[in-house]
Amino acid sequence: MTIQDIALIDEWHPVLLSSDLLEKPIPVIVLGEKVAVFRTSQGVHAFKDLCIHRGVPLSLGKVKGDELVCAYHGWSYNGCGTCTRIPSLPADRAIPSKAKAFVYPCVEAHGFIWVSLGTPVHSLPKVSAYIPDGFKEVIMGPYILQAAGPRIIENFLDVSHLMFVHEGLLGNSEFAEIGDYQVYEEDGVLTSEEIVVYQPDPDGTGRGVHSRYVYEVFGPLCVAFTKRDRDTDHIFRLFLMVLPETEQMSKAFMLKQRNYAYKEPDEVFVQFQDLLIEQDREMVENQKPELLPLDLQAELHLNTDRLSIAYRKRLRELGVTFGTA
Ligand code: FES
Ligand code: CO
Repeated sequence: MTIQDIALIDEWHPVLLSSDLLEKPIPVIVLGEKVAVFRTSQGVHAFKDLCIHRGVPLSLGKVKGDELVCAYHGWSYNGCGTCTRIPSLPADRAIPSKAKAFVYPCVEAHGFIWVSLGTPVHSLPKVSAYIPDGFKEVIMGPYILQAAGPRIIENFLDVSHLMFVHEGLLGNSEFAEIGDYQVYEEDGVLTSEEIVVYQPDPDGTGRGVHSRYVYEVFGPLCVAFTKRDRDTDHIFRLFLMVLPETEQMSKAFMLKQRNYAYKEPDEVFVQFQDLLIEQDREMVENQKPELLPLDLQAELHLNTDRLSIAYRKRLRELGVTFGTA
């Protein structure tokens, strides 16, 4: 393993939507490592995507009888990575003890498949546990972005871009001023005070509202905001979890929770989010330097960037080096 990132290696990373992992193994990339993810009757599994015999990606193989069978010479690996069958081996020969796949921790939760390349130190983001019953959930993405994970996260935490990048939807450039707010920390979660933003059409339904935003940073690549409509009890919570494939290629997964517009089809919200992501894409794919600078002397910060500053400090404390400079 050549990845030096002490924080991200031990994180859980979302790699696939549960609904996308069917009977075929799927190749994914986590922190530059190729990983084969597959499903058996016992659950989900992640192996290094390389057969020890002749280096063919195991993701080219197929799942048969709860084992992953390599496409090249049919070696069969069980969920623990142990090779249980080598078809070309005469029946009286033992399978070499080195015939193993390299296994990574892999779990399925909240509609996503999660992989860690190390020893996961934190529990999975509690994306469902936070919201009381009666909220409607929609999974969105994955969005493929040619940008560093931390740049994508910071864009999500950046309230002052709403009035420009998402003008007419999430903000109005005539009302771009942001009141001062603080960021505090509780149980390791960075949380902003409420920030009020006038939003002409925040759901794509044409209804303007004054939204009160609270942002939360749960982990280096897992964040959320909760917005409350100032005039109703409408609550909207959006999680963003970014998979860092390489330093400059990422997949963004989102989970949205709401306690209103129950009858509105989920597709309306998904399409609206797709539009917002396209607007953000132009920014995050063109930022220079591509990697998020953690030196606070780099770039120019305002008070309204408090949350970005806190995020950069946090990444620095955690020792995140992948996608940062
Ligand atoms: Fe996988 Fe030969 S390369 S079985
Ligand atoms: Co945006």
